[in-house]
Amino acid sequence: MLPQRIEPAPERPDNEVQTLVDELYERYRSLTRGEVATYIPELARMPPDKFAISLVAASGQTFDAGDNDQAFTIQSISKPLTFGMAVEAFGRDEVLRHVSVEPSGDVFNSIELQDGTNRPFNPMVNTGAIAITALLHHRYGDEALECILERLSAAAGRPLTIDQAVYESERRTGHRNRAIAHLLLNFGLMEYDAEAALDLYFKQCSILVTCRDLATIAATLSNMGCNPLTGASTYEVASVRDILSIMFTCGMYDYSGNWAFRVGVPAKSGVGGGVMAVVNRQIGIATFSPRLDSHGNSCRGIEVCVELASRLGLHAFDCLNAGSSYLGTIL
Ligand code: DON
Repeated sequence: MLPQRIEPAPERPDNEVQTLVDELYERYRSLTRGEVATYIPELARMPPDKFAISLVAASGQTFDAGDNDQAFTIQSISKPLTFGMAVEAFGRDEVLRHVSVEPSGDVFNSIELQDGTNRPFNPMVNTGAIAITALLHHRYGDEALECILERLSAAAGRPLTIDQAVYESERRTGHRNRAIAHLLLNFGLMEYDAEAALDLYFKQCSILVTCRDLATIAATLSNMGCNPLTGASTYEVASVRDILSIMFTCGMYDYSGNWAFRVGVPAKSGVGGGVMAVVNRQIGIATFSPRLDSHGNSCRGIEVCVELASRLGLHAFDCLNAGSSYLGTIL
């Protein structure tokens, strides 16, 4: 059961943030660079020009522009969320025994493991994400999909479902991910039944969200794991820290360094066209636009976030971000 939705703070049409969101939506509508993902055949059916921007503040205020009701599959944006679930279920040390936390600098579906330990580089690339999903499958068995759906639904503030057609399309064509699962099995990073864990991974990637859902999930992470629109406690404070750390260093794949430089907040993208970014203790940001660049990141999503960060001073090392207020009280 999801908790009752708390009435969000009323939107103010003349609000400065809403004006900026409208402005960015108008400006970047004309950016048509990039291609819709086709390697999962069903994804190619997404109309390429759909575009949405959504912000949900930790205080509950919401700001939207564009196709905010358009549903699309969450894809890799599920990865930090299942990682957080695994950290809570197994503890950080046990999770780290299976997956490292080092940026790979390689494409998301690269078939490689770290020298020495044979662990996946991090939970944001497919090797690491599949290892995490296998852990969840091992713990929850047949209930695992329900557990993932419940957790993501609590973070989004409404019940989420999977897109059956995308799931079947990925299951039919996911040979590379199948190879990854068997590699993990070979190195003992997956206990058993690679097919069942893979099936769960394909399903978690096929969860349907809207841009507003992603912004609400981001706001939940920004609000120490508590959904600001429903009041639901969704993630533990300690696991939120782990989730955001991984998103900051590895969330945008082999563009993560550029992203940290240009935007400066933790983020995660998916090949469905979503980008989710978190401004700690302040606001969740999401964009949706399915045209992707060569890294698999949404072209419009990157430009909107770069400009939002610059106009609102969101970068973690912006001179206006003055550091720990806690330290301020004890120094
Ligand atoms: O593993 C896959 O191929 C997809 N289901 C998820 C990949 C993804 O979203 C990568 N993102 N940029």
